[in-house]
Amino acid sequence: MYQTLQIDRNDKQRQTDQWAANYRAFDAPVMLLFFMDDQLQTGSYIDYGMFIQSVMLAAVGLGLATCPQASIADYPAIIRSELGYPNNKILLCGMALGYEDNEAVVNNYRTTRENVELFVDYFD
Ligand SMILES: Cc1cc2nc3c(=O)[nH]c(=O)nc-3n(C[C@H](O)[C@H](O)[C@H](O)COP(=O)(O)O)c2cc1C
Repeated sequence: MYQTLQIDRNDKQRQTDQWAANYRAFDAPVMLLFFMDDQLQTGSYIDYGMFIQSVMLAAVGLGLATCPQASIADYPAIIRSELGYPNNKILLCGMALGYEDNEAVVNNYRTTRENVELFVDYFD
């Protein structure tokens, strides 16, 4: 991503600025926050992951775009003090939601995909 944005490996300031943009949801009009009840067991993490992806797919279906943001979960205490969410909720992640800016260079960044053989074992 830094390559796409032409941010040099040694340019700590621009790297920090790019990371800081997380905390204004990359200027998207909406930042979603995902909380999970702390009584839920590990199986529910799978459910929650699917739920988050369903939100992302639904957004795309409506012509919107998203960016899931694990970075938001690094500061639960700040979000708790600002929003007063209950102590028994775990902040899992945030998500920027809005219309994609096709002109923004960062939105031309594409990650590669692993070949399926690298993460699937076939049993006959
Ligand atoms: C669970 C998860 C958390 C992420 N957290 C962040 C984040 O905090 N900040 C960020 O800029 N990108 C984050 N990303 C990366 C982008 O949302 C996105 O995945 C990336 O731009 C590449 O898109 P792709 O997943 O379609 O390859 C995260 C991705 C995932 C799957």
